[in-house]
Amino acid sequence: MDSENWRPSLLYLAFLLAILHLTQNFLSHFFLGNETVRIKKNPNLPLRFSSDGTFKILQVADMHFGSGSLTRCRDVLPSEFEFCSDLNTTRFLKRIIQAENPDFITFTGDNIFGSSAPDAAESLFRAFGPVMESGLPWAAVLGNHDQESTMNREELMSLISLMDYSVSQINPSDDDPTKGGLMTKIDGFGNYDLRVYGAPGSMLANSTVLNLFFLDSGDRAVYQGIRTYGWIKESQLHWLRRVSQEFQGQNEDSLHSTDGISTIKPPALAFFHIPIPEIPQLFNKEIVGQFQEAVACSRVNSGVLQTFVSMGDVKAVFIGHDHTNDFCGNLDGIWFCYGGGFGYHGYGKAGWPRRARIIQAELEKGKNSWMGVQRILTWKRLDDEKLSKIDDQILWQVS
Ligand SMILES: *[C@@H]1O[C@H](CO)[C@@H](O)[C@H](O)[C@H]1NC(C)=O
Ligand SMILES: *[C@@H]1O[C@H](CO)[C@@H](O)[C@H](O)[C@H]1NC(C)=O
Repeated sequence: MDSENWRPSLLYLAFLLAILHLTQNFLSHFFLGNETVRIKKNPNLPLRFSSDGTFKILQVADMHFGSGSLTRCRDVLPSEFEFCSDLNTTRFLKRIIQAENPDFITFTGDNIFGSSAPDAAESLFRAFGPVMESGLPWAAVLGNHDQESTMNREELMSLISLMDYSVSQINPSDDDPTKGGLMTKIDGFGNYDLRVYGAPGSMLANSTVLNLFFLDSGDRAVYQGIRTYGWIKESQLHWLRRVSQEFQGQNEDSLHSTDGISTIKPPALAFFHIPIPEIPQLFNKEIVGQFQEAVACSRVNSGVLQTFVSMGDVKAVFIGHDHTNDFCGNLDGIWFCYGGGFGYHGYGKAGWPRRARIIQAELEKGKNSWMGVQRILTWKRLDDEKLSKIDDQILWQVS
């Protein structure tokens, strides 16, 4: 065919395709209305242990997602720099979900890096894309960078709670029915608890055997004239204590009725972004993992550790924020574990692979049925060729 006739026919084809595309859009918007309305896909709830007696959580800390393929990696080897972008963060998330096949995924903040994300919503959809595709239930809290783009913290948590398979919540509901809706007395956005039920068909199939607390540790603040990081406020601690107490009351009956099971409160785990001010004390203590940078905590100590100690059910706390710290250390009987930086656009250390933490709770095997939680383990996976597993440890077990 000679090129004279080629171009007009190609143009014509393009024109036809454009018309077709426009008409389709037009039709779907105005006549097939239902099909363009996106309804949130929900996971099977309640969250529960598997029939093999385990509940495995993947913690993703500090994805620092920007806008995708154009967002460059930070702190990778010079040889890795050229072909490295946010897509490597996406790839890591897909690989680790496939390798570990967790029951639940939690994101502990700085999910997106606001200043590299021209459109916060688009960045969130890209960042959480692999987890929405996985169909696994997931929950997120915010860090100090998420709101640096086009959405504030309330809008971010609202959108995150509406994404497919998300079980994230903006805040607890108000107990007072006259107020209706969200609890107004609590600071921040993204304070909620999720209950995990026993194994299907077991005696505790309809009871909470593990409780997961999510807290908003804020972003930045000025305290006594000095700029510092956010902290968990008294209103949030008040809510925590109340839920923990209610939880104990509710569970005593169901636990009494199933012979041989202790009446202690089921264990709980907590997730938030910014380390508490006691974490630096772990520098001279025995830890599992690496302590490689100064802890960027708040100057304000609002008593989070004392609250957890007095509640008694929180056995381990999972944080992020300091990307090159990935250790677990024990403070007053409670483990505090960093996830270790996950995202390639977040700062890191060249040659020190990006990583993620896995937390696995295991049930006690009774005579005929799975019982309550017996132990809680953790380990990490590196984003290397083999997704190397490191720093396996037991965090808690029934004594
Ligand atoms: C990023 O992804 C590309 C393409 O999948 C891969 O070739 C490269 O090795 C990755 N870089 C790092 C640092 O993981
Ligand atoms: C849990 O609830 C289901 C559905 O209501 C019921 O069939 C089952 O017997 C309950 N199991 C226990 C141990 O209470």
